[in-house]
Amino acid sequence: MFLRGIASSSLPYPLTLSFKATDHPRNVAVSSQKLNATALSVSDEALQSRGFILRRTIDDLNLDHLNSVFVAVGFPKRDPEKIRIALENTESLLWVEYRKTQKPVAFARATGDGVFNAIIWDVVVDPSFQGIGLGKAVMERLIGELLQKGISNIALFSEPRVLGFYRALGFVSDPDGIRAMVFPRKQKKTN
Ligand SMILES: CC(C)(COP(=O)(O)OP(=O)(O)OC[C@H]1O[C@@H](n2cnc3c(N)ncnc32)[C@H](O)[C@@H]1OP(=O)(O)O)[C@@H](O)C(=O)NCCC(=O)NCCS
Repeated sequence: MFLRGIASSSLPYPLTLSFKATDHPRNVAVSSQKLNATALSVSDEALQSRGFILRRTIDDLNLDHLNSVFVAVGFPKRDPEKIRIALENTESLLWVEYRKTQKPVAFARATGDGVFNAIIWDVVVDPSFQGIGLGKAVMERLIGELLQKGISNIALFSEPRVLGFYRALGFVSDPDGIRAMVFPRKQKKTN
């Protein structure tokens, strides 16, 4: 889900990844086995040998190029200055640079309070690079980083067509019946 998508016409589906955390007893505990550091589906070295460089800061990230990836997957084009502010206020982010073009081809980020909760946003892979494991590689590392910080309550909003992608990473919908609620930009008229 993208930043503005929370108020888009297609209602997002909440998915939560949570672990046996005493501070959030109502959350469903799911296996974290897939997500520990030793269980990455592809190593950093293997990615590098294929020409993909993992990056964890926005220092070398060209926001216009990132915006192009957002637009290519159907997200609305956003003001680069607002993207910069959003990224500066982001808890953790990860992106993949394709060495040949020096452009971003995969991206994901999480906002949060640094201790208890994080929400993942803007998970994208350039259409030319989809289906080769980059989305999974980025998500595994982002989740691993959040868990390492001790953040146990990790959630995201998923487009219906991507639910399977997130479920395979360990996310569950509506744990204990908990539902996400959003405040729509346009209030429905009530007669
Ligand atoms: C969703 C997205 C991030 C997935 O990235 P990707 O690099 O293409 O996916 P990967 O190649 O890493 O796939 C990892 C696994 O998820 C599966 N998968 C990928 N997309 C899937 C989908 N839409 N539904 C179900 N499973 C999916 C793959 O088959 C693969 O399975 P495997 O590990 O058993 O081989 C990417 O397709 C994308 O950017 N889509 C458009 C933007 C978008 O919808 N973002 C999410 C907004 S909520």
